[in-house]
Amino acid sequence: MDTIEGRVALVTGGGRGIGRAIALALAREGMHVAIAARTVPEIEAVAAEVAALGRRTLFFPLDVSDRAALSRAPSVVAATLGPVDVLVNNAGMHTSGPVHRMDDASWDAVLAVNLTAPMLLCRACLPAMYERGFGRIVNVASVAGKIGIKYGAAYSASKHGLLGLTRSLALEAARKGVTVNAVCPSWTETQMLDEAVAAIAAATGRTEAEAREAILRANPLGRAALPEEVATAAVFLVKDAAVTGQAIHVDGGEVMG
Ligand SMILES: NC(=O)c1ccc[n+]([C@@H]2O[C@H](COP(=O)([O-])OP(=O)(O)OC[C@H]3O[C@@H](n4cnc5c(N)ncnc54)[C@H](OP(=O)(O)O)[C@@H]3O)[C@@H](O)[C@H]2O)c1
Repeated sequence: MDTIEGRVALVTGGGRGIGRAIALALAREGMHVAIAARTVPEIEAVAAEVAALGRRTLFFPLDVSDRAALSRAPSVVAATLGPVDVLVNNAGMHTSGPVHRMDDASWDAVLAVNLTAPMLLCRACLPAMYERGFGRIVNVASVAGKIGIKYGAAYSASKHGLLGLTRSLALEAARKGVTVNAVCPSWTETQMLDEAVAAIAAATGRTEAEAREAILRANPLGRAALPEEVATAAVFLVKDAAVTGQAIHVDGGEVMG
């Protein structure tokens, strides 16, 4: 295991949910953490939590579908904290609906945020990682990257693509000190789950409790993961230099293999 104390991380979508949990877990490991997303009060609050752990931190507004802003992000971090050693591509969005009614805009938005943005941010961070011979990239994918999701084609396609990016880049980067991995949560207790429950309830006429029960019925543990449980897997991937190209499920055994 390499020491990661004192390293600099950038976590996209770090203002809440899984991204917040990863940012705080990395800070507890001694890392300095930059947090970027669109909702400024949320990223400001998480930066305050990182600072309270005694680490240096930075928050800056970022819409990951803005290509120009993404390409500037590594230098924004470097100017305050130093070069990005650890990139966590966590920002993500979810839409649902059948393909025959999908509009172009929602397909494009999901692919832009969940797949194109991680590639662009990897591309922007990699030269400095290669130069220094150290880097860790953790992509927050999903079990939806391993299986099809009824009424979730754009999301599932984007996460399948993200795993393809992860594995291909892992091969490119392997001899350059850079590992590239993914975590694949199933349903996790965040705003995204709450929104999915509300959407299912609205579409089916079920109560939110019934919709939630239906979503989690197939899970062997019978519950959603906690953001902190996803963060534990992300920290492992950051620490271990011998693990690359992997997609680790944090899903209570919902999808195996
Ligand atoms: N919750 C689940 O059940 C679950 C399961 C599997 C995988 N995941 C994945 O986990 C990741 C985190 O999701 P979460 O569950 O923590 O959901 P969440 O609570 O809704 O958080 C999503 C984060 O992504 C950010 N984000 C969304 N669009 C963005 C954009 N255009 N630019 C910048 N940031 C953006 C949000 O910040 P702003 O809105 O402030 O920009 C927020 O910080 C996502 O990639 C998601 O696909 C979640």
